[in-house]
Amino acid sequence: MFPLRRNRRLRTNESIRSLVRETILHPNDFIVPLFVVEGKNIKEEIPSMPNYFRMSLDNLESEIKELQKLNLKSVLLFVKVPDNLKDNAGKEALNPNGLMQRAIKTVKNIAPEIIVMTDVALDPYSMYGHDGIIENGQIANDATSNFLAQMSVSHAKAGADFVAPSDMMDGRILTIREALEEEGLNNTGILAYSAKYASAHYGPFRDALDSAPVDLQNIPKDKKTYQMDYHNRIEALRETQMDIEEGADIVMVKPGISYLDIVREIKNMSQVPVAVYQVSGEYAMIKAASQRGWLDHDAIMMEQTTAIKRAGADIIASYFAKDIVKLIS
Ligand code: PBG
Repeated sequence: MFPLRRNRRLRTNESIRSLVRETILHPNDFIVPLFVVEGKNIKEEIPSMPNYFRMSLDNLESEIKELQKLNLKSVLLFVKVPDNLKDNAGKEALNPNGLMQRAIKTVKNIAPEIIVMTDVALDPYSMYGHDGIIENGQIANDATSNFLAQMSVSHAKAGADFVAPSDMMDGRILTIREALEEEGLNNTGILAYSAKYASAHYGPFRDALDSAPVDLQNIPKDKKTYQMDYHNRIEALRETQMDIEEGADIVMVKPGISYLDIVREIKNMSQVPVAVYQVSGEYAMIKAASQRGWLDHDAIMMEQTTAIKRAGADIIASYFAKDIVKLIS
């Protein structure tokens, strides 16, 4: 007998297709990463991230106003720290008047409704470009966790709504949660980079912040002793489960497009919201290929970002957030 069901009926035209569409991007889905630098009236394009900029605090204000108009409501702040303020212990990260702390206040002053999330890791502050403190040639886990807890308290006191530890030390979510509670900062949330892989997709980001691991004797040349091995899947579930048990409010998988199997599994097992970071290298690949005319920029951007949501992302940190919202509104 001829098939009773002709699946093509539901694809006949755009009206029907949109009626039965399962996954649709919305401005509420996005976190906008922002790179902040010292100075005045600075807006420098990052060479490996076309049309993405480092900006000084005055320009951060205008950026925030633009995000408000676009209905984008969350930002994730990163700072580029001058070399003379870098050391092994990252102590500038605790400066109550440091760039991050001022950036948080800048956003909150002009847009109290915008959710401010902050990167919590040592790398922009580390003379070695590592996310942790180095002792005897190794990344010291517990010393780093304790430091990240102080850093989180400092960001929360400056007004951050969420701290986002991106370092992958063991036990840091619990250490941070306890430190926040001790200070009465019980409303400050934790977005945990729970399944963060040691990935080659972070290159442009490290250019943006000048934060790549240094090439020195006795210093690890990469982040593979703390970020995860991309050959592994079960490890991601274990890391995420532990972060949830330690009190993470939101868990995150990073990068995005090469890890959609992990995103789906984590979405299936997690009872907290799942975020995905579509990272700098994913952005750079789309920009580079479309600049050459090899791929259609907007079509690829929408396809890859929608795929991240379809895989299970409730929230997407993306350098495309503004472009996407302009396109869909
Ligand atoms: C810092 C941090 C990194 C990213 C976010 N936070 C770089 C790294 O771990 O080396 C990468 C983001 C991106 O590539 O867009 N710990």
